[in-house]
Amino acid sequence: MIIKSMLYLCAGAIFAQTATLAATGPENRPQAVVTCESQVKMPAGSQAPGDQYVFFGANPKPGKKTNDNPDTNLVKLKDFSVTAPCEGGNHLIPADPANPDCGKVVAPGGALLRTGILFSNEGVNRTCQDLATFRITNPAVTSFSVWVLDDTLKRSGNWNSGIAIRVNGGDPLAVHGTVQADSCNEFTKFTVTGASISDVFAVTLLTDSKHAFRTLAGLTFAVIPDPAMAGKSFPSIYHKGWIDLNKNGVMDIYEDPSQPVEARVEDLLKQMTLEEKLGQLNQLVRFGDQGKHDVDFFPKMRRGEVSSYIWMGTSPALRNQFQRIAVQESPRGIPIVFGMDIIHGASTLFPIALGLSCSFEPELLERAQTVAAREARAEGIDWVFAPMCDLARDPRWGRVAETCGEDPYLSSLCNAAQVRGFQGTNPAAPDRVAACLKHYVGYSAVTGGRDKNDTEISEWTLRNAHLPPFHAGINAGALTIMSAFNAIDGIPSTANRHVLTEILRDEWKFPGFVVSDWEAVAQMINWGYAKDKADASRLAINAGNDMDMKSEGYVRYLAAEIKAGRVSLATVDEAVRRVLRVKFQIGLFDRPYVNERGFQPAQMHPEDLALARQCVAKSTVLLKNTGVLPLSKEIKKVALIGPVGDDPVEIQGCWSGRSGWGTTLAKGIKDKLAKDATLTVVKGCDISSEPRTKTLQDGSAVIDDGVAAVSADVQFDEAVRAARDAEVVVMAVGEPRGWTGEGGSRMFLSLGGQQQALFDAVAATGKPVVTIVFSGRPLSLPTVWEKSAAVLYAWQPGIQAGPGLADLLMGDVSPSGRLSMSVLRDVGQAPNYYNYLRTGLPGFSYRDHITSGDAQYWFGYGLTYTTFQYGPVRIIPAADGKPAEAVVTLANTGKRAGDEVVQLYIGQLVCHEGARPRQELRGFKHVKLQPGEKADVRFPLTSEVLGYIDHKGNPRVDAGEYEIWIAPSAHKGTPARFNFAP
Ligand code: NOJ
Repeated sequence: MIIKSMLYLCAGAIFAQTATLAATGPENRPQAVVTCESQVKMPAGSQAPGDQYVFFGANPKPGKKTNDNPDTNLVKLKDFSVTAPCEGGNHLIPADPANPDCGKVVAPGGALLRTGILFSNEGVNRTCQDLATFRITNPAVTSFSVWVLDDTLKRSGNWNSGIAIRVNGGDPLAVHGTVQADSCNEFTKFTVTGASISDVFAVTLLTDSKHAFRTLAGLTFAVIPDPAMAGKSFPSIYHKGWIDLNKNGVMDIYEDPSQPVEARVEDLLKQMTLEEKLGQLNQLVRFGDQGKHDVDFFPKMRRGEVSSYIWMGTSPALRNQFQRIAVQESPRGIPIVFGMDIIHGASTLFPIALGLSCSFEPELLERAQTVAAREARAEGIDWVFAPMCDLARDPRWGRVAETCGEDPYLSSLCNAAQVRGFQGTNPAAPDRVAACLKHYVGYSAVTGGRDKNDTEISEWTLRNAHLPPFHAGINAGALTIMSAFNAIDGIPSTANRHVLTEILRDEWKFPGFVVSDWEAVAQMINWGYAKDKADASRLAINAGNDMDMKSEGYVRYLAAEIKAGRVSLATVDEAVRRVLRVKFQIGLFDRPYVNERGFQPAQMHPEDLALARQCVAKSTVLLKNTGVLPLSKEIKKVALIGPVGDDPVEIQGCWSGRSGWGTTLAKGIKDKLAKDATLTVVKGCDISSEPRTKTLQDGSAVIDDGVAAVSADVQFDEAVRAARDAEVVVMAVGEPRGWTGEGGSRMFLSLGGQQQALFDAVAATGKPVVTIVFSGRPLSLPTVWEKSAAVLYAWQPGIQAGPGLADLLMGDVSPSGRLSMSVLRDVGQAPNYYNYLRTGLPGFSYRDHITSGDAQYWFGYGLTYTTFQYGPVRIIPAADGKPAEAVVTLANTGKRAGDEVVQLYIGQLVCHEGARPRQELRGFKHVKLQPGEKADVRFPLTSEVLGYIDHKGNPRVDAGEYEIWIAPSAHKGTPARFNFAP
């Protein structure tokens, strides 16, 4: 019987109602029954030691959101686990001073049990009002009561409100209406019977959604297990050293941690039904700590139909709850693998990958991702959807932010390093995660930089540009790979046998599994490549795509496809093998749960923040310096102008969200200035402004593009005043982080909103302007390059932006970052990467006022606080079994020590396989020199350094002439000729 609840809307009425409601669960198990009585006094006996009280908001701080950090606000109970309050805002507010005793529950003998916490729910037409959700962790507990001290509901004044229990995201059961009781010791008691550990209970606040409301509810929850059940226990599946996952009482090979992975995989595979096998190829999505479930949510897990979740929650306890269902209740007990996009940090947010790759220090990326792995795993994430191995060839495409730049060689090194950082030498270690290379392959070549557009990639370019960064990731041991959204040669990557099987499996021998991108299996219908989901699922699995992200096509349709002979059981078995293999490799079968108390201790260690700070300094590229940098330590008046100067959020980057703050540039600079120096911070304008309409005198409306809500002039005046008054101006400008990353394509490569005008006004003061650009892509800002005295390109630097950039500004650290992606003169040049193929008529020029086809700053470019001089490139011929070498003498000709990134580029003059790029990076070295110091920098010229991949996928090197540059960036310096004879 399903009885829909009613909300009692008689504000001010005194309610004392008893109701019994039950529902039948979709899996034919009677669902929990909830009854409710209001205005009951808590019997003394129920407060005996051993009773369990659910309580949230343990240390309320006025004005803090309870969901800022759900874990610290929840008291963990032995038999229950409480999850977070509703997303979207339960604010803790101070207790009512007029009635301080309300909300206190006093036990016999006078001990204070719990202090009631006040919540306010604010919003209009809210759909989610769950104040707390909880689950049972002890299967022996099947009935309990929830006591709600509802004293403060009466304070909701004229608004209508009530309290109810929801089971498994269903309708509110046992609604308790608005009360006007005066006693602080009267409770509403909900009694729950027939509960199971897979049920999720929510205490829900009901309100009249017609009003914008502010409802206060002072709630103390007491959850008391049914004493009749106490002490009853069920046989445990957990044994010393192994788990009886299939609950048959014996240790099977797959349950035995001492068995080799392959033997475990085969043993398990042969026990599985077809449905369970297809379940292992199914990935679902779980939003937030308290997202709604579809009705079949838990039964699916129980049936073993969920292999993986994209886990957007942050509660390890909730993650374990889900895992418990898979392990304890599904037939084979196969653990779920929880995956998530941890791109440039979990809690400690580092610079975006594009920034980090500018360090030209792969080891730095490895260290950053080692931290990310530890933080993510402690959060309950076993598998990260990173690194992104796509090439950044078009700045209009917002996802360049996630890449390691435009060069396949640098990108390969950085991706391999990230894989090592995530997985370590043992991905089963409790501080490591499985990596997932993405997006395989060619996604970044989307036409016009329009995200998720079509692509046109030749086999030659695929082999020599797009594939090598993936191959490097696989050679570094990446356990999984994600297929891309784009099509190659007309065939969506999701079902492209050439790349998924011929290259990945047959050529590269990749043993891990492929997961599709988000709903990409189903999207093949939109591509016009599949007629329906069954067709799409068949095409994808037959091509070599093992796991279906979110489409739920495999679980629904592949059984019928097998029956019809269109998909072989062997194909499914092979895909399942690959998935299980990874689950065994990361230790999930032996340790399916994460430490619920491990979250806090694993996050943001001081040394992680120090590393993040170092990463900021090393990722930032000094594009221009007339000598104003570093700033003098004696400086007395600095103006910091621009919308990013004191913004803790914009600095985080496109994939942030877990830590809601960062140390701003304002704070970073302030901390470094002398005590008697002043820093004036002026925002000037917003980072972006939406186009808004303006009414003309004739009454018609026109778009007044980019007029800020606050009068820009006023803010400009303030900015100009501050600039005039300062010795130096630091401008913090850029693009909103929301304009970067997935879906962040842009038509213009300009600053957001009114920032260009702000910059012009400030620059017109004549004061030296140091511009710091915050962006997820290289912007084209000709007047900024021209009028600034110095430019630092900071990308999206993460939460240590302030200290890291201040280190550079004040000269405590010297810049060493080099562009991993070229900065174009204007958007019309896009795409324009340094390693374009040779053409018949080199020296392209435009007909516009800008004629040069060259980028403003090519790949590899970046200044230091000193100057370096490169001697001519010398070739030392091969001898005594040692390869030939290219050598250059480098001299520090400036007045400061500096770290120069010396780069080796090669160019093959004649290649019959196809035209090769004019220049290709094939080596680099960091060389630190003191003023006046010199050093010889050498690079071997081996087959590997000079070679390429032919059309069939074979590495190859040709005898013949090559140009060899050793230079400070691409398209710089004079090459030496080298005749290679293998
Ligand atoms: C879609 C994105 O393209 C991909 O990068 C991401 O990993 C998945 N969604 C999962 O969030």
